[in-house]
Amino acid sequence: MEKEIQLRNDIFQRIKQFQPKSPDNYRLAFHLTPPVGLMNDPNGLVYYKGKYHVFYQWNPFDTKHTFKCWGHYSSNDLIEWEEHPPALVPSEWYEKDGCYSGSAIEYDHKLFLFYTGNVKTEDGGRETYQCLAISEDGIHFEKKGPVIHLPDGYTPHFRDPKVWQHDNKWFMVIGAQTTSHDGTVVLFSSDDLEHWQLEGPLAGKGISLPNHFGYMWECPDFFSLNNTDILLVSPQGLKTEPFKYENLFQSGYFIGEWNMKSKSFVHDEFNELDHGFDFYAPQTFEDQTGRRILIAWMGMGDEQEQSHHSIKSGWVHALTIPREIFIQDGSLYQKPVEEMKQLRNKENSENITIANEHTKIPLISDLNEIMIEIEQFAGKQFEVQLQNNCKLIFNNEKGILTFERKSFDQLNLETRQCKIDNLQNLHMYLDRSSLEIFINDGQIVFTSRFYEEAVKNECVITVDGKTKFSLKNWSLHSYQ
Ligand code: FRU
Repeated sequence: MEKEIQLRNDIFQRIKQFQPKSPDNYRLAFHLTPPVGLMNDPNGLVYYKGKYHVFYQWNPFDTKHTFKCWGHYSSNDLIEWEEHPPALVPSEWYEKDGCYSGSAIEYDHKLFLFYTGNVKTEDGGRETYQCLAISEDGIHFEKKGPVIHLPDGYTPHFRDPKVWQHDNKWFMVIGAQTTSHDGTVVLFSSDDLEHWQLEGPLAGKGISLPNHFGYMWECPDFFSLNNTDILLVSPQGLKTEPFKYENLFQSGYFIGEWNMKSKSFVHDEFNELDHGFDFYAPQTFEDQTGRRILIAWMGMGDEQEQSHHSIKSGWVHALTIPREIFIQDGSLYQKPVEEMKQLRNKENSENITIANEHTKIPLISDLNEIMIEIEQFAGKQFEVQLQNNCKLIFNNEKGILTFERKSFDQLNLETRQCKIDNLQNLHMYLDRSSLEIFINDGQIVFTSRFYEEAVKNECVITVDGKTKFSLKNWSLHSYQ
C-alpha cells in the first residue's frame, strides 16, 4: 500500500511540475496524448456506467519504455475527455516492472480489469502474471493479484489478456510465444472471472497456419462482427514483402469461423489494418449502441521513436481517433466514428475540374477534416500533398497507393505502399503533427505522424489528365 501511495504521489507531482516548453506546435488537439511522458497501447476500452473509458500504457516519468502504469481518460461522447488518476500503478511483487496491457469488462455493475504483471528477474529474464483488478466506480481499483500463471509450452512473452463473454461463459485470449519461438494466441475460459482453464492455442503455426508467422503475437483481440469471427493481433518478426509489413511490427486481422466445441478457428490470410507509419496494438470494444469501435496506438517503437520532435516538449505518442469497424466485401473497413462531426467548425467546399496541372487549396486551420470525392479521373497519377511533408500518390496504371513523408530528421523521404484497384474518395484528419487518411470509405487506412517547422496549411492536388472532384474542408475544434 505504501509503495502505491508513494508512486501515485510521484506521478501527481510529475504532472503538477510539468511545464510544457512553449510553443508546443506539435501537441495534438483532438487525439488522446499523455499529459507528460510516453503513451503506448490503448488498454481496457469499455463503455461503463454511462461513460466511455480509455486506459493506456503510460510512462509519466520519461519518454522511453521504462516504467509502465495504466493512464486513464473517460468521456461522455468520445470527443471531450476527462483525465483521471492512473488506474493501475506497479506497486506489487507480481507487477513490479510494469502493469502491462490488458482489457476491461463490466460484470455485476463492477468494472473488471485484466492486465499483465511484468516482472524482470535478476538473471535478465522475465516472469509474467495475468492479473485482475476490480472497481465499483470505474475510477478506483482493488487489485486481486494473479489469476493465470505461465502454462508449459510458452516463453514468458505471454501477455495482454483480452476478455469477453460468450454463451454465459467468459473467455480470454493472451498474446504469446511458444517455446519454439512461434507467435500464437492462447485461449482460456472461466465461469467466474477468477478461476481460468487453459483451452489451448487458438491460432498460429501448426494450429491454424502451416508456417512460422512471426516470433511473438502481441495484443490480441477476438470478437464477432457481421456473422464472422475476427482475431486482431500484432505480430512481431514478419519479414517485409512488396506492399506488406513495411513497419518494424505489424497489426492486422484474420477473418474466420470459431467453433467453440471443437476448439478450432479456421481463418483466411492475415491482412494489415493500416498501411501508415504509426499504428500498432489496436483494441476494440462494443459500445451501448452495438457499434464495434477500434482505437490503436498511433506510434511505433522503432529506431525513429526517440527522434519525435515532441520529446523536446516532454511527451511522445498518441492514440488514433476512435473508428467504427465493419465487414464489407470480406474485408475489415474502418471509418471515423460519427461523433467526430461534432468537432467541425468552419466549412469550405469546392468543386474542381482540372487537367494536367496542380491546384493549391488553402486549409482553414492546422486542425482539419478534409473529404475529397473523385467524380472523374482518367490520368495516370492523382497526388495529394498536405502541408510540406506528407503526400499520397495514387498510381492508376499500376494500382499502387504510396504515402510519402519526410523522416523526423527531415533528411529523407520515406514511403509506405499498398495495392488498390481504384481511388474513389479520401477522408482525412489532420491534427498538427498527425494525419489519418481513410480511403474508399475506409477500405484502406494510412495513419502517420510527421514533423515540420512551419506548416503552410495547404493542400495541393496534382493530376495528369482531366479530373473532376469535390473537396470539403472543415477546421476542427480542439477538445482540450
Ligand atoms: C505492445 C506491448 C505489449 C505490452 C506493452 C508494454 O506495444 O509491448 O505487448 O503489454 O506494450 O507497454
